[in-house]
Amino acid sequence: MTNQENLPGNGAADDGPLDLSGKHIVLGLSGGIACYKAAELCRALIKAGATVQVVMTEAAEQFITPVTMQALSGRPVYTSQWDSREANNMAHINLSRESDAILIAPMSADFMAKLLHGRADDLLSLMCLARPIDKVPLLVAPAMNREMYAHPATQRNFVQLNADGATVLGVGSGFQACGETGDGRMLEPEQILEDVVAFFAPKVLAGQHVLVTAGPTYEAIDPVRGITNLSSGKMGFAIARAAREAGAEVTLVAGPVGLPTPRGVARIDVRSAQNMLEAVVGRAQAATVFIATAAVADWRPAAPSAQKIKKDGSGQTPQLVFTENTDILATVAQSPAAQAGRLFCVGFAAESQDLAENAEAKRLRKKVPLLVGNIGPDTFGQDHNALLLVDARGRTELPKASKLSLARRLVQEIASRIALAQSGKKVGTS
Ligand code: CTP
Repeated sequence: MTNQENLPGNGAADDGPLDLSGKHIVLGLSGGIACYKAAELCRALIKAGATVQVVMTEAAEQFITPVTMQALSGRPVYTSQWDSREANNMAHINLSRESDAILIAPMSADFMAKLLHGRADDLLSLMCLARPIDKVPLLVAPAMNREMYAHPATQRNFVQLNADGATVLGVGSGFQACGETGDGRMLEPEQILEDVVAFFAPKVLAGQHVLVTAGPTYEAIDPVRGITNLSSGKMGFAIARAAREAGAEVTLVAGPVGLPTPRGVARIDVRSAQNMLEAVVGRAQAATVFIATAAVADWRPAAPSAQKIKKDGSGQTPQLVFTENTDILATVAQSPAAQAGRLFCVGFAAESQDLAENAEAKRLRKKVPLLVGNIGPDTFGQDHNALLLVDARGRTELPKASKLSLARRLVQEIASRIALAQSGKKVGTS
């Protein structure tokens, strides 16, 4: 069989609807220099499929014009509670009732203080107060100088804002427009988008702690050379993101890759298979799901040289002797937590041919309830993949799609198997 015949789907990738398709977001801007990032955020929300209604405070208009925001959102911007374009002159009621969420980015320290007191002397604060609290969520992305951010009043206000039912998205750290460096920068538009998408995702893994391995490993030959492989880590990083979106606490143990860490995920960088094993073994006992996507080197040089191996001019090539690396997945699958059914283990199989047969054999050999097969050479480094899930009940094909949409589907498949196992029906390896 060829690689192509083996693939679950050979057609065009089916990535489904956009992340925010069908969502109507009110994007509120309060006064702060981070308003320049709100323009980019507006574009990002629209690109993700949302419709966006911009509402600006008077202070926000000092930093960016409604013209810019109207052009980007494709809708007239609202700035006043006295806006006569609304037939009933109640923009605060109409706009909040229509929306799936109100997102305030940037949220200034002053605007937050206003929200906490339930003050409503401009359209945006009026809308926040008038929104049906259980139907229209409020998400806020603070932006302020580091001293303002660290002030006890501000920190107290964050706690109260959360208690009042808002979702505070956190802040970035680094160089600030005022010239100082510290916490309080508004998150980057892509980070806010990731948080908004996660906010709307069904929480099928709430209460779970997911441990993921991703990327290649690097096995040193000497201080400047080593052996690695073509794994990009993209699938594992997408799974970590999808698991976090689904409400899990996620730890990602990553081999040497330059990918950005998904929002809300704890990342541990490792280099060799032995480093990865050490990082995983202890943590696996606190986890409830272990997903091994890493392309772990099967062998490492038995005795890496402490110094760079030099050519001696004789034409002789160095003789490398290898030793086998411990199988991390098989080790975790044999651990007390996995054996007691407290830890659901998922393996990956990167094959070059006979996907179904190899995946099934690997599942039994590694003693895991679920094995996910893919064709390594077709997917390494790519943004798309196709997966074949193999468990005791049979095979499930996930046809070609982006790694993120496959990761989301896989997370659903894992969640349904955990739910099934918890409902008393056995999901065994046999
Ligand atoms: N794996 C692991 N530790 C290893 C080797 C593999 O945890 N030392 C995990 C991988 O993360 C993956 C699964 O085992 O989830 C299968 O990896 P793969 O490289 O496809 O299989 P191998 O066990 O190496 O078998 P083979 O090389 O014979 O295909």
